[in-house]
Formats: sequence, structure tokens, C-alpha cells
Amino acid sequence: MSPLAQPETRLVSKSGTSNGILLADKATSAHRLPPRPSAAPSAARAAANDSLFDRFAWLYVFFREKVFRDDTDRIANALWPEGSPAPGAELLELGCGPGFYSCGLAARFPTISVLGVDCSAQQLTCAKRKALSLQLKNCVFERDNVLELTHGDESVDAVIAARLFTVLPNRERAIAEMFRVLRPGGRCVIAEPRYAFWASLPLFAMWVIASLTCVNNGYREPAKATVLAPSEFKRLFATQPWQRVSTWCDGRYQYALCEKG
Ligand SMILES: C[S@@+](CC[C@H](N)C(=O)[O-])C[C@H]1O[C@@H](n2cnc3c(N)ncnc32)[C@H](O)[C@@H]1O
Repeated sequence: MSPLAQPETRLVSKSGTSNGILLADKATSAHRLPPRPSAAPSAARAAANDSLFDRFAWLYVFFREKVFRDDTDRIANALWPEGSPAPGAELLELGCGPGFYSCGLAARFPTISVLGVDCSAQQLTCAKRKALSLQLKNCVFERDNVLELTHGDESVDAVIAARLFTVLPNRERAIAEMFRVLRPGGRCVIAEPRYAFWASLPLFAMWVIASLTCVNNGYREPAKATVLAPSEFKRLFATQPWQRVSTWCDGRYQYALCEKG
């Protein structure tokens, strides 16, 4: 089994902050670090570092599973146009949320190893539950900051990210991390919505429920999702020396396929 599918061998007890993201622990290292508070934050305790994706994880899962487009086919075809990945290929999903694509691709290609990372402990709990319900043996999830990944240079064969830039201000930094962790010859696929209204629906719903339940102060997410114009989206990838980049739009979404030489 590949290192990506073995959480124990990848244990990293990283602590610290980066761009407002506080990573107090790795899911697998709870015995080494102080436990996270188990109770949901009260109105008084919600702080700038709290995340709507943690507080209302179930609501995002609903949007992800029932509302948004399923791009599993598009992502698989872009990553592996020859039809299937090499056995043992290692795929990393950044900002995996509830694990929709990690689980979908792991289920479709049982010989690859998939690792999904996210900074939200609750999203990761949902992702692990999904992997368990699908009885996936090749899909694991870890807490990590996509702006400062704990992965070594050139350590994975493929990277994907979906809807990540809607809530991530420092996009260039994330692209730099994607480039760094990809092996030469590796591919990266990014899928982003194009219209702010549709992209903002889960944020809007989470903010409304937060305010109705008086847990409405201090979440780090914006009220409105960021969407990039196709020209901005394209320019973003020019910040790294990819061998080839193609970007395209399809309906309400835009995509990038980047290949590292
Ligand atoms: C809009 S959701 C997208 C989730 C999933 N990729 C999908 O297709 O629905 C954005 C996710 O990015 C995560 N995220 C935001 N900033 C992050 C960071 N710096 N490091 C890791 N995850 C981050 C959030 O916790 C959230 O789960």
C-alpha cells in the first residue's frame, strides 16, 4: 500500500498558524496534542478562526451531495486521458471538504491511493464517514493547510482542487504548493464555479443559520464566494513554470489542467 493510504506513516504533528488558518492537530495525533474543544462554539466564544465549514458541516454536505455538479468524470478524464491511472498512483485533493471527489475517484480507481486534506475537522469527519460507508481501503483524510502543505517536494502524481478558490484569498500560494508537491510529469486539475450567486449559496445559507442561531460572530469565511473571471483564472496559473496549462469553461464552471514538466 502506498504511503498516501497509510495515515500512521504520514503522521506530522504540525502546529501553528498560516494566513489565519489554525491547525492545532492532525486527526491521527490526538494522543500527542491537547484535545480540541468538543462543544460547538457558543456565540460568545466564536472567534475569527472559527469556520462555518466546521460549525455547519452538515449544510455544506447537503449542497455538495445534492446541489452542485458532479465533475468526477471530467476530473478523471483530464487527469488520465488514457483511461486509467498507473497502479499505485498517488492523488492529493486540496480543500477536500466532505470528500466527494476523493471518495468518488478512490471508488472508481481502486489501485490508486487518495489523500484528501482540509483545515476543517468537521468536514474531514464527514469525509471519513463517507469513505467508511463506501468501504474504501485506498482513501484517507488528514488535516492540513493548503497554503503550507506538510508534503515533501515532488511527492504525489496528481493534485485536484474543487471550489477551493471560492473561499481562499491566497490563491497564488496554493498554486505554488500544488506545483511543489507534484512529481515531474504530474497533473493537476482545478474546478471552480464561474458565477458568484450560485457559488455563494452554501456560504449564504450557513451565514443565515449562524445569525438565526445567534452563532454569528467571528467566522473567517466571507459572506460571498469569490469567483474569478476566465482571464484572471488563466493568469493565476502563469505564476508557476508549468510545462502546459489549459483552461476552459463549461456551463457554470471553469477548469484548469496543469502539467508539470
Ligand atoms: C467550498 S469548500 C469545497 C469543498 C470540496 N472541494 C468540494 O468540492 O465541495 C472549500 C473547502 O476548503 C477548505 N479550506 C479553506 N481554506 C483552507 C486552507 N487554507 N487549507 C485547507 N483547507 C481549506 C474549507 O474548510 C472547505 O472545506
